[in-house]
Amino acid sequence: MRRLLLAAPFAVLAAPAHASTGEAVNPWVALAYLVSGVFFILALRGLSSPATSRTGNRFGMIGMLIAVVTTLVTHMPQKVGDVANSYVGPDFASLGEILVAIAIGAIIGITIARRIAMTAMPELVAAFHSLVGLAAVLVGWAAYLNPGAFGLLVGDSIGAVSKVEMGLGIAIGAITFSGSVIAFAKLSGRMSGSPILLPARHVINLGTLAAIIVLTALFAMAGPSETMPLIIALTVLAFVIGFLLIIPIGGADMPVVVSMLNSYSGWAAAAMGFTLGNTAMIITGALVGSSGAILSYIMCRAMNRSFISVIAGGFGADDSGAGGGEAKEQRPYKQGSAADAAFMLEQAEKVIIIPGYGMAVAQAQHALREMADMLEEKGVEVKYAIHPVAGRMPGHMNVLLAEAQVPYENVFELEDINSEFAQADVAFIIGANDVVNPAAKTDKSSPIYGMPVFDVDKAKQVFFIKRSMGGVGYAGVDNDVFYMDQTMMLLSDAKKMVEEIVKALD
Ligand code: TAP
Repeated sequence: MRRLLLAAPFAVLAAPAHASTGEAVNPWVALAYLVSGVFFILALRGLSSPATSRTGNRFGMIGMLIAVVTTLVTHMPQKVGDVANSYVGPDFASLGEILVAIAIGAIIGITIARRIAMTAMPELVAAFHSLVGLAAVLVGWAAYLNPGAFGLLVGDSIGAVSKVEMGLGIAIGAITFSGSVIAFAKLSGRMSGSPILLPARHVINLGTLAAIIVLTALFAMAGPSETMPLIIALTVLAFVIGFLLIIPIGGADMPVVVSMLNSYSGWAAAAMGFTLGNTAMIITGALVGSSGAILSYIMCRAMNRSFISVIAGGFGADDSGAGGGEAKEQRPYKQGSAADAAFMLEQAEKVIIIPGYGMAVAQAQHALREMADMLEEKGVEVKYAIHPVAGRMPGHMNVLLAEAQVPYENVFELEDINSEFAQADVAFIIGANDVVNPAAKTDKSSPIYGMPVFDVDKAKQVFFIKRSMGGVGYAGVDNDVFYMDQTMMLLSDAKKMVEEIVKALD
């Protein structure tokens, strides 16, 4: 895969021509796009580890700057004189309008990025994907309505290859748009997280997809006067299928859906890159498309979900799906205080901390780091165990721990640390729930059945920080760990509890 990614930008120089019309591309432009493609690959490489992610982000920004400037310079708006087609020079007024639009977009982006809470990041990502999808639909329609401006005319009609690219771009863009809007509504609680299962949904979905493919083929073959109803039908059906594919997916599978939609938005951009003859868009779209698909696959494996069933629209989902609900049963449990916890932590030789969504809500990472530092000073070995879907977005816990400057070498992935719980004196669960729920291993009827979880039951002591016994995790199910003999429930806001433990340790 890495070799394939590295080879991608060289396609720019290998085929320096408008993908549809064969029009030659300036080699300097191709070179600039190649350089931006290399920066995007370096960005992906950097983002693969918290230690290098800032550098990765910077590479991505440089790559995008090069791509945008190159595109602006190459497609500088031109003034046309009074005599038909006479050239007058660059149209700086139009350029000014474009720059104003870029500035408005940048201000909105910066404001949202500064204000958004870490916990709302998944729905923000879904909302942004919907815009990428909508942009692809609008570009496709603009190219259809004014093919001359996009260099798509072969004689006096649009070439068949361009029409296929246009149809694909519009279809993938529309699916991305409506799918992302539903994902946004589900993730932000504006719509129930439970799967909505229509009768015969697989037949409806397959039928709609087949209709889109047939319409794309008919659109490509149709004469200039016959294309309008076909492209309208194609666009409407694609909006509908995006909606139908996402409504049957339960809240617990939403992270996979968000990264899958990320992938779709990349393919929509790549298809539009072909329509516009813009190699940077083709490369960037392909990188986003393939990295999103790989991330979805990795997340499906982490949650033990079938990749195909998730992308096929909740194939195999039933009404027992996830999202909300209350713990039904009240069983006896032991409750402790910060002083009890501090006393036992001091006695421990090895403590494994399992952070989850509640740590993010409470913003307890800094207090947690302080507690870990104090324990280490007292000779206790402290490690952090991160589940791939802990929190509400991929890498959520890693980001928060990095923000609190927890050393990377103390942070371990599930498969690297799970065997160590048997030697741990304390499993310190802070705001996590589903990722430590043994029902995932034992209860076939549980919505999280099959998801690998931490073996916290093997630790000598378990401390469980959450606010109340009534609250449940994302999947909405009770957790047997609350009621185990070795478990001490620390019922409080996570930050408040850890700060009290720190005080007691002091
Ligand atoms: P969850 O299972 O969601 O549990 C969160 C826990 O935090 C609950 O027990 C809650 O109990 C507690 N909590 C909330 N606010 C708190 C606060 N201020 N102080 C202390 N505790 C607090 O979390 P998890 O173990 O991280 O599991 C993640 C779940 O989210 C999985 O089911 C996963 O599939 C799903 N999901 C993951 C992602 C990604 S990509 N990571 C995206 C969407 C969904 P109280 O309410 O009683 O405090």
